[in-house]
Amino acid sequence: MSYLIYVINGPNLNLLGQREPELYGGKTLRDVEKSCIETAKKYNAKLKFFQSNAEHDLIDWIHASREEANGVIINPAAFSHTSVAILDALTLFEGPIIEVHISNIHTRENFRHHSYVSQKATAVIAGFGTEGYNIAIRKMTDLCGQLKTS
Ligand code: DQA
Repeated sequence: MSYLIYVINGPNLNLLGQREPELYGGKTLRDVEKSCIETAKKYNAKLKFFQSNAEHDLIDWIHASREEANGVIINPAAFSHTSVAILDALTLFEGPIIEVHISNIHTRENFRHHSYVSQKATAVIAGFGTEGYNIAIRKMTDLCGQLKTS
């Protein structure tokens, strides 16, 4: 069984590699995507990648995921902490959702400790650096399988 997984990244993640590398590491978003594709191949999953600095783009892609994706992996970046609109969009998606944060948001400033998205996420991965995306893909294929057979 092959699953289609949407991997959605929010604002400023287009600058991975240049952006605060001590927090987010040295890999670019393209490097992360390549690594995710390798992981997905091992698990016979297909990926579609999206990144935008605009909240409405993320919402539109979450809506599109309802039509074709088995699961959604999302790093909403700063919108995690502010966006009820992204939470509402995710509420309309019926499959598993994994929220990824490259850094451990709980060891950072107080305003990063709360994520609206976590309320709807099936699971949250934070603090594993960009490796968190690969972990999410592996676990997402498990979650999709569980939903199909249960
Ligand atoms: C982030 C954490 C957020 O607080 C921050 O605004 C980001 C990235 C992370 O991946 O660690 O842009 O989501």
